Amino acid sequence: MAKPQIIVLDDRESLFVRAAEEIVHISGESICTHGQFAWCLTGGNTPADVYSLIATRFHLSVDWNAVHLFWGDERCVPPDDEASNYGMANRTMLSKLTLDPEQIHRMRGEDDPEQGARECEEQLREFFSLSEGEFPRFDLVLLGLGDNVHIASLFPGIPAIHESRRLAVAVEVDAPQPRRLTLTPPVLNNAARVMFIVAGQNKAEAVRTALEGPRDPDRYPAQIIDPAHGEVMWLLDRAAASLLSPALLGAA
Ligand code: 6PG
Repeated sequence: MAKPQIIVLDDRESLFVRAAEEIVHISGESICTHGQFAWCLTGGNTPADVYSLIATRFHLSVDWNAVHLFWGDERCVPPDDEASNYGMANRTMLSKLTLDPEQIHRMRGEDDPEQGARECEEQLREFFSLSEGEFPRFDLVLLGLGDNVHIASLFPGIPAIHESRRLAVAVEVDAPQPRRLTLTPPVLNNAARVMFIVAGQNKAEAVRTALEGPRDPDRYPAQIIDPAHGEVMWLLDRAAASLLSPALLGAA
């Protein structure tokens, strides 16, 4: 497994600022090396302040014309629904920026889930000019971590954890908004960089399990993340890192 870089910040605020700084840095590097920044966003609550910071304090540091936004997962709700991951990113970031609709490649949570998954796959094949069997390579995949160690909408025990061909699938999970769309493990693991942002004491056990727990990706989907040609970075606040061993933190 690629050795993840683990960065621990004192509190949520400094975690969110550091995350925004890292994302801005990666956007600049990507645009410099290949003219665009293909950024896969995460949903949930944790990234909201990061998105807001990027759209305000850091917005002049990003060449927004070269940015393309995608989502790692979506709840099967309309885009203006409170539970929509696109909706959250729009409220906290997109609505504060001037982006062309062609730069926003959202998952259509309002459609029939299977159709939504196929539309998402078509969108990825087109944007990344993929041939059969190829996977998109995001410059950055952002991930949160569920307290049951799920990532995107890859929840413990679901078949999608073992998906090896599809790019995106419809899933039914044990959570509010059970019907969801999610990118699959081969897509997440084809990224140049995967960045976890995790905050709070309530996530400490999940973080410990993901990084130091018994290897069992079926039960702990975050353990799926092992990009063959990419880097993994964990940005944590002290509370979320509180159960990690000194050995791991020392080696980090
Ligand atoms: C989603 C997310 C999910 C999220 C975790 C953590 O749609 O819910 O993509 O994977 O990242 O559930 O969520 P919080 O940040 O809200 O704790």
